Amino acid sequence: MKTFIIFFLLAIPLIQLSVDLYFLRFLKKFVAKFNYNPSYVRVYKTLTVLFLLTSFGANAFRTFGDFQYNNILIIIYATLGIWYYSKLILLPFFLGFDIFKLSKIIYDKFNKKEEKIPVVEENTNVSRRNFLEGAGIITAGIPFLIVANSTLNTVRNVRVIPVTVPVHNLPAGFEGFTIAQLSDIHFGSFYDSGILNRCILLLDRLNPDILTITGDFVNFNPKEMEDFYTEYKKLKARKGVFACLGNHDHYMSDSERGDLRGIISSGSVLLNNQSAIIENRGDYINIAGVDNSSKGQDFADFPLMLSQKDPMLKSILLCHNPRNWDKYIRGKTDIELTLSGHTHGTQVAIESFGLKLSPAGLIYKQWAGLHSHGNQHLYVNRGLGTVGPPMRIGIPPEITLITLKKAVSHV
Ligand SMILES: [Fe+2]
Repeated sequence: MKTFIIFFLLAIPLIQLSVDLYFLRFLKKFVAKFNYNPSYVRVYKTLTVLFLLTSFGANAFRTFGDFQYNNILIIIYATLGIWYYSKLILLPFFLGFDIFKLSKIIYDKFNKKEEKIPVVEENTNVSRRNFLEGAGIITAGIPFLIVANSTLNTVRNVRVIPVTVPVHNLPAGFEGFTIAQLSDIHFGSFYDSGILNRCILLLDRLNPDILTITGDFVNFNPKEMEDFYTEYKKLKARKGVFACLGNHDHYMSDSERGDLRGIISSGSVLLNNQSAIIENRGDYINIAGVDNSSKGQDFADFPLMLSQKDPMLKSILLCHNPRNWDKYIRGKTDIELTLSGHTHGTQVAIESFGLKLSPAGLIYKQWAGLHSHGNQHLYVNRGLGTVGPPMRIGIPPEITLITLKKAVSHV
């Protein structure tokens, strides 16, 4: 596991450096073309070095230091996020421009025409130059404003997403049964309890029958939950809170992992390859949970979990990584509803005007929302906290409110 973490600690600055150098190339050309002040380039280079060192230092401290998540670290991550994520917004346009230019060079090479004498344009029009300079700065500023908004606003703006899930032969006692879902809380990503208090208030209003928490309670350390222990205990539902573990709940020593499980269990029923039964109005269903299985982790024990559930009852499964739905559940078990999280929608998405786009779609087949296959359903929650930069662009934190209803019929 240590090798994996060190790989990430080194890989992240390399990716950041590549992005910075790519943009430096454009900045140099831009400054030269419009005769801007060359100090723009020097400032950019200085910030690049500063942010690279800060990013590496913060990540190393967060991973190996005596972890106490504090506001300074949050501000550092927010600043780094604004610096790098703003560029990610511009990246498709710049790449598009480069691809276009490259295609033109290749085309011209194979379609040689009479050489034209280049016309040297004298850029002496001062007002035109000022206008272009202003326009350039505004255009470059828009992504920074979008990212700043996502850091200061979207990341705290919890929304409730109501979902109705039809279940074949649902027992009458569970008609209208409500399941709230939180996922990927990542307690260490909060600098105050504001977002948690909002969740407590919303859950109080929604008054769900059960609350489920589908893993990634922390980033790397059980201490992250200590500051928010009071709020955690207030996340409640009428018939109980049920939880499973995520990949981040394993990135620690054995004794820390034990501590974390103890803290989680003090506020919810931790279903670690286990199954329990919920009663409602005289009927019963299984509520099961598996430990995490994903790249580098193989802790989910599906046969053990399945052996514990009552085969005569309908089943809800908590399973952090949605990839496991296709791998172990869909068409291979009789589990009607699987609740997952994990993807965070990579914290960047467009989900409006009928569009549903996110880099997460390149990595995960199901990265957010409801997915159905016959009588089996998967819901992927977009997460509450953050990993890496404390920001969410176009994909706010989510409380899901699932209502079960009897499916009319399914052929
Ligand atoms: Fe997560």
